[in-house]
Amino acid sequence: MSKNSLWWQNGIIYQIYPRSFMDTTANGIGDLNGITNKLDYLADLGVDAIWLSPIFPSPDVDFGYDVADYVAIDPRFGSMVDFDHLLKESHKRNIHIILDLVLNHTSDQHPWFKESRKSRDNPYHDWYLWKDPSPKGGPPNNWCSIFGGSGWEFDTQLGQYYYHMFCTGQPDLNWRHPEVRETLLNVFKFWLERGVDGFRLDVFNMYFKHSELPDNPKKLIGLRPFDRQVHKYEVSQPEMDPLLNEIRQLLDSYGSTYVVGETFLASPEHTASYCGQDKLHAAFNFELAESPWKVKRFTRAIKNWEKAVEDHAWPNYFLNNHDVTRSSSRYCRGEDDARAKVSAAMLLTLRGTPFMYYGEEIGMRDISLKHSQILDPVGKRYWPFNKGRDGCRAPMQWDDSVNAGFSSTASWLPVHPDYISRNVSKQKTEPGSLLNFYKQLIQLRKEHPALNQGSLSILDPQNKSILSYLRQTPDENILILLNFKQKQITYQLPKQIADQNWRVLFSEKRQIEELCQEQSILMTPYETLILVAD
Ligand code: NOJ
Repeated sequence: MSKNSLWWQNGIIYQIYPRSFMDTTANGIGDLNGITNKLDYLADLGVDAIWLSPIFPSPDVDFGYDVADYVAIDPRFGSMVDFDHLLKESHKRNIHIILDLVLNHTSDQHPWFKESRKSRDNPYHDWYLWKDPSPKGGPPNNWCSIFGGSGWEFDTQLGQYYYHMFCTGQPDLNWRHPEVRETLLNVFKFWLERGVDGFRLDVFNMYFKHSELPDNPKKLIGLRPFDRQVHKYEVSQPEMDPLLNEIRQLLDSYGSTYVVGETFLASPEHTASYCGQDKLHAAFNFELAESPWKVKRFTRAIKNWEKAVEDHAWPNYFLNNHDVTRSSSRYCRGEDDARAKVSAAMLLTLRGTPFMYYGEEIGMRDISLKHSQILDPVGKRYWPFNKGRDGCRAPMQWDDSVNAGFSSTASWLPVHPDYISRNVSKQKTEPGSLLNFYKQLIQLRKEHPALNQGSLSILDPQNKSILSYLRQTPDENILILLNFKQKQITYQLPKQIADQNWRVLFSEKRQIEELCQEQSILMTPYETLILVAD
């Protein structure tokens, strides 16, 4: 296993949604052995770590994000033996394993919750947020669920409400209870002892709620009741900071581990405030992934994140995950991957850890589903205004055989119909494919310290088409030029760098090593050009 303590800075992290990656048991659901079988593919791609979306037993109200046991493997994914095997085989290939811990809430089928709802004096009762109805009757306060409706669910037998930010099947835990805190910290230990390298923490800044549960202030504008509130009291409470210190100390005692948090309803500055030496290594800021196809917006997102993390934390970037429409569906037109290449080049040359999501490297598009096919609770509730998140969770497209090579018999969500022409096997053989583009840039990032560790300076935009920036170390100076438009554009080398000799380091159109002798460069439509100063 790699001794490089900066693996999480230098490396690429690849998110796998296990249900959809590779099915070896012919039940239509991906599994751990499927992932193990594909490790050589991931190693060849150049991945340094895998983030596994939840693999724990779950009734799947929210597809794994409702956990019924934190220290077991969902039998549909395999066994603990399969997990240990995956871990061992990953480590053999210098691939780290990051588990997704969903500790803000459990499933309502978790034995703790089942106990807690038995009676008010059950020892587990206070492990959750149970409250009497308000004096006027009805829920204890105005908090809403982001998945729709009140955040409070009434239990007729107990005569009390419990709080859930997400589905009713996902009751929030009471992190103020000392036994809850201790038990959940032991969950970290359990997996660290098995050898995992890190964690992604689901909506961690929601763990604590204001102890008095006051009403949230109201806002005038917003589509849903949830959006017409200032979420002042159920997220980002100050008790989170000491807990993060404790989590970090625990992780540090296991060597070179990594913890990245999913921040909920937070600005870039607020997100960055959770990161640093004695806090999280990193947290997700959504601004880049939410940017429309505009140089100005990407520039703003990058500058905001750079400024927010400043020198106290290491940035990270992503364009895709299991909650958002795939970037290829957002940005590309039809089956043309030109924009997918430009956005990949941006992701892989910025300062900060790039996160990829399975299938991104072959430009998988979202599937479209009929109402009756929707499985995601968000889509079920808000159809047709919001069709939910199933679209970006379709099976991985390995080849053009049945079910895209994902499963020999079935598939829990339909496979995208473009799999015949868009799949790993085909793209492997095509030199100009998106897959090979990702591979080359990942390799370049590994080989050049300026790309994985250097500073970042965005150059003044000359027009709305080209995003240009420098990545520098004392020994290396790299210039990245990305043409976001489908037209030829002349790029004028800015004065401060025009007197240097620039050589082509990466291009799909030009000779590598070729010198750029002019002060201006004619960029072809959607061109990625990476130059290095001699
Ligand atoms: C954030 C996860 O990314 C999302 O998929 C899930 O539905 C909620 N947290 C609840 O766990």
